[in-house]
Amino acid sequence: MDETVVETRGLIKTYGRVEAVRGIDLAVHRGEVFGFLGPNGAGKSTTISILCTLLSPTAGQALVAGYDVTRQPGAVRARIGLVFQDPSLDDQLTARENLEFHAFLYNVPRAERRRRIDGVLEMVELTERAGSLVRTFSGGMKRRLEIARGIVHYPEVLFLDEPTIGLDPQTRNRIWEYLHALRRREEITIFMTTHYMDEAEQCDRIAIIDHGQIIAQGTPEELKAGVGGDVVTVTTRNPALAADEIRRAFELEPAVDGSNLRLEVADGASFVPRLVRDLTVPVSAVTLSRPTLDHVFLKLTGKAIRDEEVDQKDAMRMMHQRWARRR
Ligand SMILES: Nc1ncnc2c1ncn2[C@@H]1O[C@H](COP(=O)(O)OP(=O)(O)OP(=O)(O)O)[C@@H](O)[C@H]1O
Ligand SMILES: [Mg+2]
Repeated sequence: MDETVVETRGLIKTYGRVEAVRGIDLAVHRGEVFGFLGPNGAGKSTTISILCTLLSPTAGQALVAGYDVTRQPGAVRARIGLVFQDPSLDDQLTARENLEFHAFLYNVPRAERRRRIDGVLEMVELTERAGSLVRTFSGGMKRRLEIARGIVHYPEVLFLDEPTIGLDPQTRNRIWEYLHALRRREEITIFMTTHYMDEAEQCDRIAIIDHGQIIAQGTPEELKAGVGGDVVTVTTRNPALAADEIRRAFELEPAVDGSNLRLEVADGASFVPRLVRDLTVPVSAVTLSRPTLDHVFLKLTGKAIRDEEVDQKDAMRMMHQRWARRR
C-alpha cells in the first residue's frame, strides 16, 4: 500500500455566498507528483491554501504529513514548502540572504545551513548569482530562487501553485528538471496546480477540479484512455453546418471550438475517408490524433485548459510584476 501524505475528506470552503470548494476527497501518496488541474476559479488555490494552513476550511478535514491542518497547523507548516502564484521574495536581499533567512525561520541547524543553501543554489543554477540582489533577477531566476527557498528546509511535501505561470517554455522545462531531480534525491512529495497541459503530463497522477468539485482523477494515461479511441479534428469555414451533417450521417456529437469540430471515434483511420466522402461542406483540414489531456479536459469541463482569458491574466500578472519592480 502506498503511504498517504496528503488527505482531504469532504473539504468545503465558502466565501460568503461563493462555494469555492464543494466537498473534495483526495489522497496523495508519498513521493508522487500530484497535479491539480482546473479552469480559472475552479478552487485550486483555495484548496492548496487550506492544505498549507493559510486558510481554514469551512467544513471537512485535511491531513498533511499525518497532521490536521486546523488542529495542528504548526506541525503541518514545519513539514511543507510553498511556492505560490504571486512572488514573495525580498527584493532588497541577495539570493543567499533570502535562503538564509528562510532556513533560519525553519530552524535548519546553523552547521547545516551553508551546505543546504549551496546545494539548492546549485540545483537551480544560481550559484554564480548568489550574492546579487534579487531585484536584479529576471522573472525566471526569481521563480528558480523561490523553488530553492521552498525546499531548503527539506519539506516532506512541496506545494506549488502554478509555479511556472508566465515563464517561457525553456525556463519551464528547466524548472521541471529540478523538480524531478529533487524528487529522485529526497523523496519529496509534490502537490501542484497548473494550467499547462505539458506540465500535467509530467505528473504521476492528476485530479481535475471544476466548480469546486473533483470531476476526474487518475494517471494521465488513465484519463486519456477515458476519452476512448481517436480524436478527429475537422477544420471548416462552416462548422455549424458541418456539425449538423455529422450528427445526421454518423450520429456523433461534435465539440465545436471556433472553426474546428472535434469528434471521438473508435477507429480514426477508417472513419476519416467516410467523413470526407459524406460531408458536403468544404473542409480545409482533417487531423487524426490520439487523445491528449486537452481533449480530456475539454470533454469534462467544456473548456480548453489554456484559454485566452488565462493568457490575458498571465500578461497582466507579468505587467504588474514589472511595474512593481520598477518602483
Ligand atoms: N478571498 C476571496 N473572497 C471571495 N471569493 C474568493 C476569494 N478567493 C477566491 N474566491 C472565489 O473562489 C473561487 C475559487 O477561487 P480560486 O482562487 O481557488 O480558483 P483557482 O482555481 O485557483 O483559479 P485560478 O486558475 O484563476 O488561479 C472563485 O470563484 C473565486 O472568485
Ligand atoms: Mg489559483
